[in-house]
Amino acid sequence: MRVPAFSFSQTKPPPCLRGERIASSITSSMKIDVITLFPELISVPMGTSIMGRAIDKGFLELGVYDLRAHGLGKHQHVDDTPCGGGQGMVLKPEPLFAALEAVDTPKSRIILMTPQGRRFDQRLAEELAKEKHLIFVCGHYEGVDHRVVEHWVDDEISIGDYVLTNGAIAAVVVMDAITRLIPGVLGDDMSAVDESFGPSGILEAPQYTKPAEFRGMKVPDILLGGHHAKITEWRHERALERTLQNRPDLLTSNTQPS
Ligand SMILES: C[S@@+](CC[C@H](N)C(=O)[O-])C[C@H]1O[C@@H](n2cnc3c(N)ncnc32)[C@H](O)[C@@H]1O
Repeated sequence: MRVPAFSFSQTKPPPCLRGERIASSITSSMKIDVITLFPELISVPMGTSIMGRAIDKGFLELGVYDLRAHGLGKHQHVDDTPCGGGQGMVLKPEPLFAALEAVDTPKSRIILMTPQGRRFDQRLAEELAKEKHLIFVCGHYEGVDHRVVEHWVDDEISIGDYVLTNGAIAAVVVMDAITRLIPGVLGDDMSAVDESFGPSGILEAPQYTKPAEFRGMKVPDILLGGHHAKITEWRHERALERTLQNRPDLLTSNTQPS
């Protein structure tokens, strides 16, 4: 089955409510397909705000595939008990193989969301943002039959050392971080560079906006003076302070602050 459960547009009702595919008028610079038991956990966040606009404008083509469509038998079973015993259920290989066979291409990079994977970070987001076609497999219950991992999966990715109930939310985290790096998605391309975990490897300096004074709390004078060199220096110092306070590990890692 190659037709996604849906893809969608920011300007119309959520596709999970419409169940239709909306073609983009612009050639996408990246394609992402997601295989999940919970399409709406992908469609709603990915149809909102900057992600929704990225899809509307054709920077990202998103296909969401309901694993249940490949389920076995009258009740479309997708899971079974673990071989060897143990708690919970495991996603069966047959539906996952069928779903992957339907969307895989020679250029696809297939990613399994799993707490056992490589920890996701900005460097990995930058690497994945260069790909043309990503396929995300979202686990559920106790995870997926390991034959799927051995036969299909290029990367196993974790969003952190904790366990979620399923991989859809984790996939959204990864897709959001990747999509905002696609050139053109953010209004100002520099905003993806000049921020935390950018080339400097440290956190961003504190940000302020108007009014200059709020309930007796003032914006630092230097940010209102218009002296760009001094502002840059101030921001660098505050960024270092903030990193030392919140993430000292970043200052001792291989990335040297610029
Ligand atoms: C309850 S978890 C399975 C955990 C698995 N039994 C284990 O101990 O490693 C169900 C699914 O949620 C997703 N998941 C849970 N935690 C995650 C994490 N930290 N990063 C990425 N995916 C996660 C995966 O897709 C996983 O298959």
